[in-house]
Amino acid sequence: MFKKQKNGINKGVIDNGDEIIKRYLIGVLIFGFGFVFLGCSNIDENKIVDNKVEIEKEIYIIDSENVNIEDKIKKEKDEIIVTKEKTQEEIELSYENVYWLQESLKIAGFYTVLDGLYGPDTKQQLIEFQKTFKLGDNLGIYDDKTKNKLKEIRNLKIPPSLNTNMILINKNYFLESKYIPNNLREVNVPKFKYMELKNDAALKVEEMFNDAKKEGYTLYFNSGYRSYEYQEKIFNIRVKNYGFNEAQKVIAIPGQSEHQTGLAFDVTCKSMEYGLGKEFEDTDEFKWLINNCYKYGFILRYKKDKENITGYIYEPWHYRYIGDEKIAKYIMEKDMVFEEYLNE
Ligand code: DAL
Ligand code: ZN
Repeated sequence: MFKKQKNGINKGVIDNGDEIIKRYLIGVLIFGFGFVFLGCSNIDENKIVDNKVEIEKEIYIIDSENVNIEDKIKKEKDEIIVTKEKTQEEIELSYENVYWLQESLKIAGFYTVLDGLYGPDTKQQLIEFQKTFKLGDNLGIYDDKTKNKLKEIRNLKIPPSLNTNMILINKNYFLESKYIPNNLREVNVPKFKYMELKNDAALKVEEMFNDAKKEGYTLYFNSGYRSYEYQEKIFNIRVKNYGFNEAQKVIAIPGQSEHQTGLAFDVTCKSMEYGLGKEFEDTDEFKWLINNCYKYGFILRYKKDKENITGYIYEPWHYRYIGDEKIAKYIMEKDMVFEEYLNE
């Protein structure tokens, strides 16, 4: 029991004493280790912190390099995207595309050369066009938006059906530059210049000139079909001498001339020295013509005091084949111009 107690007490005391010492020692040791550990920990932590700082610095450095690289890549990507978008937007400036652009600009009322080259003149007209139609995002860049607007205008201004004698060509309705009428042939009448007309019109001119001759009036054929290129040539000469504004009242802008249809011709006589001029209205030949032309399906196209409708000066020498004699009679008797008849 004692033993047990002793053992127990002893053990207990001793044990207790030992225990205290043990605990003390353990406590010291733990404290010591703890201190050392904590000390080490602190150092380590500092190191870690330092490392972290260093790492962070490294990360930062790497990051900042990364930022730069990423920025750089992004910038390059953006540039590629911008360039790509631009390339996709810009229409290839091939001869065909520029030619189409120039022709369309003309049709839209922005006169430019037609040479298939994207020079300063074409670019200037393109900018004017884009400003007018508020396509200002990419001034001077021939993009899809611009092309679509030009297409829209072309569709409105190019007559859908060319195979009719009643076709209206004026400052609002154009012929494409490559349009050449079919069935052109030389007119077999006295002429000052060699020129052609469409067969139907040519037959009627021959009939009319022959009938006039029978009645004592010798008419001379001056100018029939004119190609786009020829019209451009005479228009440019006129522009050079009188300036654009004056020129376009007398000579049609290429694409706007009835002469390109092969349905119109100019007529003169000996007393005019085979030339064209306002004085033709004082000739007997003219008087015969205005009283008889409708019988053959012709009308006087650019009448006096109708400049505000036709856009051209009075041209007593210019006749237009419309084919339908009844309509021609109606137009001539009512002293109308073609536009007025078509708008009735
Ligand atoms: N003189 C007319 C308008 C033309 O050039 O077609
Ligand atoms: Zn004419």
